[in-house]
Amino acid sequence: MNPAPTPTPSSEDPTGFADLRPSIESALASACQFNEGCPSRLGDAMRYAVLAPGKRLRPALVLMAAEACGGEMDSAMPGAVAVEMIHAYSLIHDDLPAMDDDDLRRGRPTCHIEFDEPTAILAGDALIAEAFSHLANQIEDPNRIVEAVRTLSKAAGAAHLVGGQADDLAAERDGKDEINQDVKLASKAFTSDSIAADLAFLESIHHRKTGALIAASLDLGAILGGGTNDQRDALAQYASLVGLAFQVVDDLLDFTSDAESMGKRTGKDAERGKLTYPGLLGIEGAQQRADQLIIEAKRQISVFENRQRRLSCLATYVLERSH
Ligand code: IPE
Ligand code: IPE
Ligand code: MG
Ligand code: MG
Ligand code: MG
Repeated sequence: MNPAPTPTPSSEDPTGFADLRPSIESALASACQFNEGCPSRLGDAMRYAVLAPGKRLRPALVLMAAEACGGEMDSAMPGAVAVEMIHAYSLIHDDLPAMDDDDLRRGRPTCHIEFDEPTAILAGDALIAEAFSHLANQIEDPNRIVEAVRTLSKAAGAAHLVGGQADDLAAERDGKDEINQDVKLASKAFTSDSIAADLAFLESIHHRKTGALIAASLDLGAILGGGTNDQRDALAQYASLVGLAFQVVDDLLDFTSDAESMGKRTGKDAERGKLTYPGLLGIEGAQQRADQLIIEAKRQISVFENRQRRLSCLATYVLERSH
C-alpha cells in the first residue's frame, strides 16, 4: 500500500489536529472536577492551570498514536488527560519564582500570580497524583493500566522531566556565576570540543525536560491503541526527534517572538543565562538543527503507511509553529 500523500498544514489548522480539540477539552473539563474533599481554592487553581488555552499537543499526540496503531482514539483519552495534567503541573512549577519566575502563561497570569505561591505549589503536587489516579480509574484493562503508569511515571520522574528541569536550572546557575563563567570560558577557549560537550549536555537536558513527556504521549497512545512492539519502537524514534525539535523551536521562539504571540514572556532565556540552542549555535544553526530533526522524524513513520498523515503534519507544525 502506498503511503497517503503528506498534507501541508492548512492556514486554518496548522496543527492538523483541530478536529481533536473539542473532545480533548471536554475530557479535561470532566476530569477536573476532583473530589468533595478538595478545597475550592485548590481545585480552582488546578482547573485554572489545566483548562487554560494550551495547544494540547501532548493529548493530541496520544490520540494520534492510538489512531496510527489502528486503535480507537476514545480508548486513548485517559492517557491524553493524564499527560496534560502532568504537563500543566510542570508548567505551574516551571513558572514559580524559585524556577523560571514567570508571570505570564497561556496568555494569562501564571498560577502563583493569580492565586499565591503555596496554592500553586500544591496545585502542581495534586495534579501529579490526579494524573495517575485518572489512568488507574479510567482505563479498563489492568495490564494497560500498569503499562500506562509505567510509561508516564518514568517520563515524569527524576531521570527525565524532573531531572531535566534540575539540570536546566543548574546550567543557568553556572552561566550566571561570573567567576565560574570566566573559568569555564578560559579553560574551554571556545574549542570545538567544548561546544560539542555543551551541545551534548543541552541535548540531554532537552530530551529529559521536554522530550520525555512527548515520547510518553506517543507511547501511551500506542499502549492504549493496542500497538505492536514494532509500532511502539517506530513511535519512540519519531518521538525522540520531534520532542527535541519541539524544545529547540521553543528556545528559538524565546529569542525571536513576542509575548503577545506566545502567551508567555520572551527573551527570558538569554536574560537568565539559560543554556539554549540559539545561544550555542545561533539562530540559523538552531533552525537548521530543528529542520534536520524533523526530516529524520518523518522518515521514522513510514511504517504507518496510510495512517501517518497526522503524525507527519504534526512534525511540520512543530517546526513551523508561531507560538
Ligand atoms: C511549553 O509547552 C513548555 C515546553 C516544554 C516548551 P507548550 O508549548 O506545549 O505549552 P502549552 O501547553 O501550549 O501552553
Ligand atoms: C519547560 O521549558 C519545560 C517544562 C515545563 C518541563 P521552558 O522553561 O523553556 O518552558 P517555557 O518556555 O517556560 O514554556
Ligand atoms: Mg524552564
Ligand atoms: Mg520556563
Ligand atoms: Mg522556553
